[in-house]
Amino acid sequence: MREPVSVTLEPVTDRNRRAILALELLPGQHGFVASNADSLEEAGEDDDAIPRAVVADGEVVGFLMYDAPADDDEASIYRFMIDRREQGKGLGRAGIAAALREIEGLTHVRKVSICYEPANTAVRRLYASFGFVEQGLDEDGEMIAELDLRR
Ligand SMILES: CC(C)(COP(=O)(O)OP(=O)(O)OC[C@H]1O[C@@H](n2cnc3c(N)ncnc32)[C@H](O)[C@@H]1OP(=O)(O)O)[C@@H](O)C(=O)NCCC(=O)NCCS
Repeated sequence: MREPVSVTLEPVTDRNRRAILALELLPGQHGFVASNADSLEEAGEDDDAIPRAVVADGEVVGFLMYDAPADDDEASIYRFMIDRREQGKGLGRAGIAAALREIEGLTHVRKVSICYEPANTAVRRLYASFGFVEQGLDEDGEMIAELDLRR
């Protein structure tokens, strides 16, 4: 069995921004998530966006972004990636677990939603294993899955 890995989520700062921008996807994964450059630009324009570096052993290995508006009981994880060189080591699973712990600490949140391309079988299984339940496709053909934190 694989050793459990530990990651932390860190706010985006001038110190880790360059490392986040240097993260890469594997060929074939570019359709699954926006580029980190686009996501960071979006985060700069959206007060609700909460961007996070995924850090393991002091190195930035991934990026995720969610929102959890104070006037809503639903948080939404809408960007998530692990660098191509670091995939398959358990960091993705640890990253989602860390994001859910952080979101669970926001007492106004009752539900977490996540969306992904239906063809993205890796994340489909990963999210299902955390208890996310598929709700169906949105207008862009992306699958929406939800996790009820009250359960
Ligand atoms: C999805 C992603 C974040 C997973 O990161 P990772 O570090 O490779 O994930 P892990 O090593 O923790 O593996 C998580 C699970 O997914 C499975 N998995 C990972 N890559 C897989 C693949 N290509 N095919 C099938 N299963 C895969 C693993 O077997 C593992 O299952 P387990 O924990 O039950 O053993 C990473 O592949 C990625 O960045 N993909 C491109 C971007 C993307 O698709 N983002 C999601 C948009 S919502």
